[in-house]
Amino acid sequence: MELRTLAPKDYDAIIDIWNRAGLPFKPIGRDSLEEIIRQIELDPEMFLGAFEDSQMIGMIMGSYDSRKGWLNRLAVVPEHQGKGIARVLVEEMEKRLKAKGFRIIATLIEDGHEASMALFKKAGYVVHDDITYLTKREDSDV
Ligand SMILES: CC(C)(COP(=O)(O)OP(=O)(O)OC[C@H]1O[C@@H](n2cnc3c(N)ncnc32)[C@H](O)[C@@H]1OP(=O)(O)O)[C@@H](O)C(=O)NCCC(=O)NCCS
Repeated sequence: MELRTLAPKDYDAIIDIWNRAGLPFKPIGRDSLEEIIRQIELDPEMFLGAFEDSQMIGMIMGSYDSRKGWLNRLAVVPEHQGKGIARVLVEEMEKRLKAKGFRIIATLIEDGHEASMALFKKAGYVVHDDITYLTKREDSDV
């Protein structure tokens, strides 16, 4: 397995990973081709794929604001789950965010994503039961 920074040409493979891993995404909102290209061009280092025999088998997206780094959209295709690939993706993206100076790295996990919850706890992430996530959206597709 090798890690590679992703590029706009990887868009279809990214969508394929999310579909196969059963991770919902917003195809006409923030996960549309145009939007993903915009995000990749802002900072390509934040898009990381795991490859085997030149096929993408997992990916993670990093992001950041002026205060924190974030881990998003982690997914590994079912045939390759349980081999430590997500752990390696998380560690590499943490390294990239730390290199930018971020001392807090955060992630949001939807209810029911038990594997993801177990993974992040094992990687040292702490659950904040006293925080509720609120958003204000232009529409439900974004
Ligand atoms: C969550 C996901 C990315 C894990 O990928 P993975 O490559 O199988 O994970 P790893 O093999 O690196 O596992 C690392 C650790 O996470 C935990 N873990 C991973 N899958 C687990 C599962 N199904 N049940 C319990 N713990 C699990 C384990 O602690 C594991 O360490 P161990 O093998 O030493 O016990 C993968 O299951 C997936 O793509 N799920 C669907 C999409 C998703 O839910 N994404 C997260 C959105 S927040």
